[in-house]
Amino acid sequence: MSVTTPPEAAPTSSAPGALLDLEAAREKRTTTRSAAAARERTAELEGLIARDPGKYRVLTGDRPTGALHLGHLLGTVANRMRLQDLGVEVFLIVADYQVITDRDDAGDLPATVREVLLDYLAAGLDPQRSTVFTHSAVPALNQLLLPFLSLVTVAELERNPTVKAEAEAAVLRQRRGISGLLLTYPVHQAADILFCHGNLVPVGVDQLPHLEITRTVARRFNQRYAAARPYFPEPDALIAPSTTVLGSDGRRMSKSRGNALELRATEDKTAAFVKRAKTDAERTITYEPERRPEIANLLQLGAYFTGSTPEGLAEDVGAAGAGRLKALVTEAVVEGLRPLRARRRELASAGPRYLDEVLARGNARANEIANRTLDDVRGLMGMRY
Ligand code: TRP
Repeated sequence: MSVTTPPEAAPTSSAPGALLDLEAAREKRTTTRSAAAARERTAELEGLIARDPGKYRVLTGDRPTGALHLGHLLGTVANRMRLQDLGVEVFLIVADYQVITDRDDAGDLPATVREVLLDYLAAGLDPQRSTVFTHSAVPALNQLLLPFLSLVTVAELERNPTVKAEAEAAVLRQRRGISGLLLTYPVHQAADILFCHGNLVPVGVDQLPHLEITRTVARRFNQRYAAARPYFPEPDALIAPSTTVLGSDGRRMSKSRGNALELRATEDKTAAFVKRAKTDAERTITYEPERRPEIANLLQLGAYFTGSTPEGLAEDVGAAGAGRLKALVTEAVVEGLRPLRARRRELASAGPRYLDEVLARGNARANEIANRTLDDVRGLMGMRY
């Protein structure tokens, strides 16, 4: 029996033992290189977007595992709203099927989805201009996964560094095997992006390998089924301008680590979060991201919310030390989030009706587009009967 290989020969991985290290090292280099390339491309794209925002369609989103936190806001959410306000069409996916990639219990999804919606709306999502929807409500999107899966090899999926890291975490945390959905979710993500012909994906660097898979899927689909006229775009990553936000323990902020400050948190909780944040033993405040990551993180937060620069803020604080820095950052975050939080409270107290309506409208629009795309795909594949 002959096995069909993807049109573009995919390197097979069978590196045993010591070779694994070599492979890992090579991968690390590739990742770093592609991060630098993506940053360069981002700068170029920003110019193109400013000139002609109508040429772009953004697709991005989040897993509904809980209310969004500061890391989400600075990492991608603020960037999405900025793009929306520039006139780019924005699609936001609430990726409910992605929640069950690494856990058995998805929690109270309707409640979590509403929390995420509240965060989006409070952060500036305009449902008149942007479309927000959930995976599970758009069957045709999910069906794209089938032809797309045929375009990648298992080896390619197993090499994906983000999936590897998540798989390791899942195994460590819950002593469980890697689900088929975890291994294939980057391909599912390709369906998320390509169903609406998204060509711009604002993501953090950790998502770059996924975007590479989306580009591969689009390219191979075009080669195999639409050689005369490419059907899917090869989307570009748009890297958010700000850096990773650290949690209270000095590690990357994440819901699952329990080190996050939720956007909806009270002012007291915000103050407590900053107070708990790790610092170091040096008195004078300087901005040195490599050598003093925790201090740099506080400076970045303060600068973000006051519209200054980390360097400027460091100079202002100087010898007054970490106590003074923390007081400034607390005030900056509390004041900076005040309008978002006020709007969020207002929306939350109005009850779920409006939220459900926004989602229903978004789902209807996503379905319309997904149905059309799936029909085109069936046509191109010779499966229209
Ligand atoms: N994986 C993303 C996250 O965990 C969420 C997501 C799902 C996504 N589908 C996407 C992001 C498509 C960008 C494009 O945050």
